[in-house]
Amino acid sequence: MSEFLDDGRAALEWVERYLERVGELPVLAQVEPGEIRSRLPASPPEEAEPFSAVLRDLDEVLLPGVTHWQHPRYFAYFATNASRPGILAELLAAALNNVAILWRTAPASTELEGLVCDWVAQLLGLPEGWHGHIEDSASTSTLAALIAARHTTGRDLVVCSEHAHSSVEKGARMLGMRLLKVPVDGDYRMRLDGLDLSEAAVVVPTVGTTSTTSVDPVAAVADLCEQTGTWLHVDAAYAGTAMVCEEHRWAFAGVERADSLVVNAHKWMLTPMDCSLLWTSRPADFRAAFSLVPEYLRTPDEEDALSLSEYGPALGRRFRSLKLWAVLRCYGRTGLQQAIREHVRLAERFEGWVREEPGWELCAPRPFSVVCFRKQGSDEENEAILERVNASGELFISHTRLDGRYVLRLAVGSERTTDADVRRAWDAIRRP
Ligand SMILES: Cc1ncc(COP(=O)(O)O)c(C=O)c1O
Repeated sequence: MSEFLDDGRAALEWVERYLERVGELPVLAQVEPGEIRSRLPASPPEEAEPFSAVLRDLDEVLLPGVTHWQHPRYFAYFATNASRPGILAELLAAALNNVAILWRTAPASTELEGLVCDWVAQLLGLPEGWHGHIEDSASTSTLAALIAARHTTGRDLVVCSEHAHSSVEKGARMLGMRLLKVPVDGDYRMRLDGLDLSEAAVVVPTVGTTSTTSVDPVAAVADLCEQTGTWLHVDAAYAGTAMVCEEHRWAFAGVERADSLVVNAHKWMLTPMDCSLLWTSRPADFRAAFSLVPEYLRTPDEEDALSLSEYGPALGRRFRSLKLWAVLRCYGRTGLQQAIREHVRLAERFEGWVREEPGWELCAPRPFSVVCFRKQGSDEENEAILERVNASGELFISHTRLDGRYVLRLAVGSERTTDADVRRAWDAIRRP
């Protein structure tokens, strides 16, 4: 008992020390493939070791192989924050170790999951009455939506823009569905001219695309869906959290007409990986697509209807709602708004510096907290900049390709990022 508490204290102290000093560590792990594994024993221990040995090896062996997503100068892909309340709630969820296969195996987990999805729906201004549940990732959420759409419409065509996340194409491929990628306009938004959805099972517009965070015209897509009976699944995996701020709601016009919507709390909602919220305005269709209850899991129907395994691919489901509940309670609407506004403000500052700097250019509009930019010059030059700054360990950025050109991407989204961090990133990027 006391050994557990001692180990627990040591682990918690480790976490606090880590969060305090993460900004001093190299953001991108400075190791070669295979290096970490080569430092670990090839065979498991015969005899029990103390937990302190695990903590020691975390520091000495694993930490050099960690890319620090919690770092204030983590600017790659989309930032993913694990806030302190979320971290603690993950510990509690592990202790409870509920497996929500059915309502009766995990009533609190099941009902809290429904509640937090309703709470977030209210925070984001979604329509009342949508059915929400939590999947591990947006890839799974979108896969589930494609399955529900095919089951409901009896069609097998998936439509998205060429800037949609690869999870849409992957989902279509896994399901053996056909895929149509439509072109984008000059601002990387899905073009609808001449688009015929009459054979489409589902169309997936994105609010906040992965490359540029562009916003597809969801309301106009919803009009087309209404005419053709096509399922509308909106991917707002990254940007959805921004709906908590009124000034960003314009980007989500039409989302209220979606058949399903995915928003990742583990991207911009301060919640540790993994926590992907999937709502549907058509729960009966979702349940019809997924419900398959073998005898050993049979319970009275009113219980079955509450079992969230009836609405997605997995049977056993983690107590993911606990960490999101902790985040929502410990930050409140105001705390989430402050975080979003701060990240957007920092991105706007960085964008201003790029705009004013001779020899540099912005490459896409910036609706949220991601700036796409490049040095005027060759792709090789820009690639070299990315490799140089990432190798320095000072910051971590990623890239994309727009209109055939190599483009740098700076995504702000860490709780710890300050003006000084963004400034330091810009100085490092410009350094000759
Ligand atoms: C717009 C969008 N959709 C979906 C995904 C996939 O998310 P996940 O890693 O949760 O599967 C991403 C990942 O960055 C994304 O940017």
